[in-house]
Amino acid sequence: MNARTLKIEAARVALEHVTDGMRLGIGTGSTAEEFVRLLAEKVAAGMTIIGVPTSERTAALCRELGVPLSTLDETPELDLTIDGADEIDPDLALVKGGGGALLREKIVASASASMIVIADETKMVDTLGRFPLPIEVNPFGLKSTELAITRLAEQLGLKGPLTLRMTQGEPFVTDGGHFILDASFGRIPDPRALSTGLHAVPGVVEHGLFLGLAKAAIVAGADGVKTVHA
Ligand code: A5P
Repeated sequence: MNARTLKIEAARVALEHVTDGMRLGIGTGSTAEEFVRLLAEKVAAGMTIIGVPTSERTAALCRELGVPLSTLDETPELDLTIDGADEIDPDLALVKGGGGALLREKIVASASASMIVIADETKMVDTLGRFPLPIEVNPFGLKSTELAITRLAEQLGLKGPLTLRMTQGEPFVTDGGHFILDASFGRIPDPRALSTGLHAVPGVVEHGLFLGLAKAAIVAGADGVKTVHA
């Protein structure tokens, strides 16, 4: 089975958790997009849900496929969010933000009674950190923020470069108008300490460690689809 088929399989199982009338957070990335395609088929067949997208990219796909949308301002409490992830550890701590949507993804997941992650099995890791950790920062004072993060990392025994995410020769700008520093720290043995430390750096808007948010992960692999609970 190729990677796309696995993503579709995980999305298909996640869709079984979606029921009529739900207020649904809709994630970002290639796996979440497979979910949107399947969801659109259900909507076309008469399912009534209202979706809150986690990025402009997801919003555009939902509009194109006829998935009804709301905003968090109109619908501040959601029943369920379905989203992808870049890494998933055995406790369902996640790294997210490879697609640059981590801030809205975290706000939407936090506004949801439940979050289910969908992924292919390559996303499962014993310890987070193989995938560079995306850190969303305010463009103002970028160098100072970078220095503060590097000092924090050293205090926590983490080491590795911070790389400003670029696209077409320019810094990548998030939907919120911020930059992203990708932190290649390697293994992150204490994600909670890093999360707390990063939140204390004023220029950091948000980071891609999602801790205690996912209630279940639906993971598709060569041997089938399994659901891991937190
Ligand atoms: C978007 O910002 C990310 O958090 C995505 O959810 C994550 O990168 C997973 O994307 P894929 O499903 O494309 O691997």
